[in-house]
Amino acid sequence: MAFLRGLGGYFLRGNFSGKDELMKLVQIKTTINGKEYDLEVRPNMTLLDLLRDELGLTGTKRGCEVGECGACTVLLNGQAVNSCLVLAPQVNGQEILTIEGLADGEKLHPLQESFLDHDAVHCGFCSPGMVMSAKALIDCTPNPSESEIRTAIAGNLCRCSGYQQIVDAIKEVKVEKRET
Ligand code: FES
Repeated sequence: MAFLRGLGGYFLRGNFSGKDELMKLVQIKTTINGKEYDLEVRPNMTLLDLLRDELGLTGTKRGCEVGECGACTVLLNGQAVNSCLVLAPQVNGQEILTIEGLADGEKLHPLQESFLDHDAVHCGFCSPGMVMSAKALIDCTPNPSESEIRTAIAGNLCRCSGYQQIVDAIKEVKVEKRET
């Protein structure tokens, strides 16, 4: 305890030598929704903050900010990640896809169409994260089972409890893909 108190005093007096390091901007190059960006970011900035606050990509939602709700889900090199848990400097040289990058102009992505067709959007707050998790799934498993679908969206919370419609929407995309 004495040790902790001692450390607290150390930080409170502003003697933390890493403080200046934390303020130094880091240069990164990253591709977001197919567009290349050269950016300067704080070392402690999250990818969520970068997307929403710096780039205005507010389709990615800010929920719990501790990796529990999945509202902030984006694809990082094709993998679904919680952007609140990724630091902006970590995406240097990486590819990000957000909900804004799914539609082709005015044409919605089949997953977005399917969510609408199945009334799988209630308050809508979880929808971007759900869709991104579903995209990561169907990109690598085009014909997922219901159990695979539920596992893929297990990290995405829906407070309206509309899970069945969401599962059905993802299943229906699977059917569309099989028919084409
Ligand atoms: Fe990132 Fe909740 S805001 S998981």
